[in-house]
Amino acid sequence: MSADALRLTVSGANKSFGGLSALSDVSLEIRAGEVYGLIGPNGAGKTTFFNVITGLYKPDSGRFELNGREYSPTSVHGVAKAGIARTFQNIRLFNAMTALENVMVGRYVRTRHGLIGAVLRLPAERREEHEIETRARELLDYVGIGRFEDFTAGHLSYGDQRRLEIARALATDPLLLALDEPAAGMNATEKVELTRLLQKIRGDGCTVLLIEHDVKLVMGICDRMTVLDYGRVIAQGLPRDMLTHPKVIEAYLGAGATA
Ligand SMILES: Nc1ncnc2c1ncn2[C@@H]1O[C@H](COP(=O)(O)OP(=O)(O)O)[C@@H](O)[C@H]1O
Ligand SMILES: [Mg+2]
Repeated sequence: MSADALRLTVSGANKSFGGLSALSDVSLEIRAGEVYGLIGPNGAGKTTFFNVITGLYKPDSGRFELNGREYSPTSVHGVAKAGIARTFQNIRLFNAMTALENVMVGRYVRTRHGLIGAVLRLPAERREEHEIETRARELLDYVGIGRFEDFTAGHLSYGDQRRLEIARALATDPLLLALDEPAAGMNATEKVELTRLLQKIRGDGCTVLLIEHDVKLVMGICDRMTVLDYGRVIAQGLPRDMLTHPKVIEAYLGAGATA
């Protein structure tokens, strides 16, 4: 565990859409350097939770802390600066750009000159751009798709697009990485590789928050987890205790899932 990884504490988070309560008094603590699972049937509020902690949706109420210090998840940029990065359930890549360029875009947000400087191509910016490119290449290798750096993102397999999203998120040097269903569309081999990648990320000092439907994958990698149903926390604890938890069984069987 790294001293740098972030601890995220959420207390009493609420978020409604009209009359629908998507998050209802959700509290959880993700310890620094662990892989934390967030599971639950479709519509349970998992993605809403991500959107709230990353500044995409404004919570109705709740207290949010990073390493014990309150933070206000009200701007996507501010949250990124605080050290949180995420991927999206519906992949959000620039399909016409290469894999390398997609990761470079992720990196620009944390550089001094930013995207404008890169476009103007002044000497200092060119030097910076070279560093960004080198780092982007390292990250593609890190997630296992270095050989595809010149492929346009839209031409990669789903599994590789998901890994590219992870590389782009890592380009901001996050201390907490939130992944929304990263294994969706991956085959069995890719899932094994993903598990290794997440272990590597954790080992390198980044806290990981994982939304995932594949119960085997979640159980295999998560240190602890929360189960949501209809916006409420129905269980929290060690993966092995979740499998036998009556409320969890009921939520999954009730939703017709085959957990
Ligand atoms: N932007 C939105 N506007 C209205 N309702 C939303 C919005 N986002 C999510 N919801 C609703 O909130 C509930 C939780 O959705 P979501 O967080 O996407 O669930 P999950 O990711 O667990 O499948 C669902 O009923 C969904 O329809
Ligand atoms: Mg979702």
